[in-house]
Amino acid sequence: TMRIPVVQELARSGIDHLPKRFTRVPPTDRTSYTLNFPPVINVARLKEGSEADGRAAELARLASGVKEWGLVLVTEHGIGSSVLHGVRDAVEGFFGLSFEEKKRCVGSYASVDNLGYGRNFVRSDDQPFDWIDRLAMKAAPPGADGGLDVWPRKPPNFRELMQNYVSEARIVLDELLKALAEGLSLEKHCFVENFDPILSEINVRVNYYPPCPGPDRALGLTPHSDASSLTLLMEFGVTAGLQVLKSQEWVTIPRPKDSLIVVVGDLLEIMSNGRVKSPWHRAVAQSDGDRFSVALFYNPSPQTQIKPIENAPNKSNGYRKMIVGEYLQHYYRNAPQNEKRAILYAKD
Ligand code: SIN
Ligand code: FE2
Repeated sequence: TMRIPVVQELARSGIDHLPKRFTRVPPTDRTSYTLNFPPVINVARLKEGSEADGRAAELARLASGVKEWGLVLVTEHGIGSSVLHGVRDAVEGFFGLSFEEKKRCVGSYASVDNLGYGRNFVRSDDQPFDWIDRLAMKAAPPGADGGLDVWPRKPPNFRELMQNYVSEARIVLDELLKALAEGLSLEKHCFVENFDPILSEINVRVNYYPPCPGPDRALGLTPHSDASSLTLLMEFGVTAGLQVLKSQEWVTIPRPKDSLIVVVGDLLEIMSNGRVKSPWHRAVAQSDGDRFSVALFYNPSPQTQIKPIENAPNKSNGYRKMIVGEYLQHYYRNAPQNEKRAILYAKD
């Protein structure tokens, strides 16, 4: 059997054809046929004390965008561009190292539990490989297994640059959870109260999609919904990588300047009792350059019991109380699947 270390090494070797192990049947239609996109939400306008009419309108846009798409873009989020550039430098610096150097400077290579540096994990032998390398680690709570010991020691400021981003991102995520509750006419703290300021978790997953020799027969990342509550996604490099399934069509997510992407995860679907839904999404491969995304998964501590908000909008289709860690275990035992099935476990 062919030994595949990481996708980046295949790309660096200059192969001109897609290896069989990455080939999908049928091929991937990467075309996005619609002119309808998720809204761009101005986070500054959601803040209390901002002009009242503008705020009410933005809250409504947030709630309807999240309901319709499970995903919105955000601008004026308050994360400084130097912080965002720092993440970019850290990530490009790390992936710019040789394979041997990367392996040496992380605490975990090709880990089975989906932490550390390596290829994307596969569940079964008949599942095609994704055209992606990843670097996954825990940023909070401090001292968690899979935390700092896994993080790269190179470039030397990697950890600091990433921590700066994570602490600013947490503020935005808390803000969004409150605004979303308000926009949905729920008690403002009903989501955020599940997130202990010390014990709640932020997991970081850096996705690297090297140029692919056969992007129309490959995928960057297999379709899935996120297990998180909210995922904050930043991306750089070539555009048009992320797609979300909307009314049976794959829609390419655009990248307005200085925007980030906010994705609803399964846990927020459960908390909201189905008022909002985690979207089915994927990353396509591309041939014209590198693409990176950095996903922050924001979760209550694993011991937290989440109680779905009462009165599911669809009464016969609500969710039950669920321990966060129990759901995550279930999700990872059952993903990936070719449809959104893991969450059925949490149905009432
Ligand atoms: C993800 O779904 O975690 C990443 C998608 C992307 O690369 O944009
Ligand atoms: Fe995702």
